[in-house]
Amino acid sequence: MLVFAVETSCDETSVAILRDNKEILSHIVVNQFQHSEFGGVVPEIASRAHLQILQKITPKAFRKAGISVNDIDIFCATCGPGLIGGLLVGSTFVKSLALTLKKPFFPINHLEGHLLSPTFNNSINFPCLSILLTGGHTQIYLIKSIGEYVLLGETIDDAVGESFDKVAKILGLHYPGGPKIEQHAKKGKINYFKLPHPMENKKNLNFSFSGIKTAVNLIVKNSKKIDTNFKNNMCASFQNKISNILDKRVKLAFEYLKKKNIKVDCVSVVGGVAINKFIRSNLSQICKNNKCSLVFPPKEMFGDNAAMIAWACINKYNINQKPNLFFKANPRLTVNENDL
Ligand code: KG4
Ligand code: ZN
Repeated sequence: MLVFAVETSCDETSVAILRDNKEILSHIVVNQFQHSEFGGVVPEIASRAHLQILQKITPKAFRKAGISVNDIDIFCATCGPGLIGGLLVGSTFVKSLALTLKKPFFPINHLEGHLLSPTFNNSINFPCLSILLTGGHTQIYLIKSIGEYVLLGETIDDAVGESFDKVAKILGLHYPGGPKIEQHAKKGKINYFKLPHPMENKKNLNFSFSGIKTAVNLIVKNSKKIDTNFKNNMCASFQNKISNILDKRVKLAFEYLKKKNIKVDCVSVVGGVAINKFIRSNLSQICKNNKCSLVFPPKEMFGDNAAMIAWACINKYNINQKPNLFFKANPRLTVNENDL
């Protein structure tokens, strides 16, 4: 079975052609770097760019795969959550192809794409714990099985990636901030600046990051010299604080599951922020202490990409989800939430 997928929920335009035996025939991801000068994604620019880029990379993907669009068995696209303009462009583009060729169209949830991405390259026993760290979301899920997700906690303000991007902007580093902060942090001292740990003593599994950004802003405003040394130390201190917050919540999640008598032997970390090596190595220690393996998606499925959307579609197809050409793109779409 051949699947064609499109991802356009934010500022990456991506198409992929996958066979259901996990063969990636072609996968193209285009980063829209034109947002960099604005310090964040401009939705109107993003949706116009998605349309232009899709028209270029779709024929290229088919040439690369050595097949024609007529060979595709099922079509899918991200239908939410995300920026409505981009979602409409991507989903309408794919729906038109499916309609013309009289083939099924599957709407795919972007978060489910991230959550299922580590099942592509790992054999995972369910239930498993999944930490979703992106530019728009910070959530902890218990995945009971494919299609059954329990949301255990999430951010009450900024998302973790968003806080990387905002702190980078305060320090005059270009968007997206995550990779820049990780680079600078390598040369800085992790305890140089004292930053707050919001909700440190709260016993739930929610996160809060906006107070750290405000603290960074205040320190920057009160400093005379913002040189490279300052930036390195601030990036290291900030990254370390974020990592501490994530570690603490994951430890709490283990305690919570233990109390509920739920045994997990695997934790997955997904989304763009999961690329961060410092965060990953600290989380790996906590998993080790809890006799759990820590897994990640394949390299090409960390950031936003269409291959994970195609893979999620294959999984949903296999559990008998029905196609739906009339599904409306929804910027606030959530994954099907189940009870514990
Ligand atoms: O999953 P993703 O590509 O898109 C969303 O669904 O939002 O995540 C993008 C986020 C951005 O905020 C970016 O700054 C962050 O991932 N990011 C990182 C790193 N690389 C990307 N954050 C921390 N460290 C990194 N190395
Ligand atoms: Zn994403």
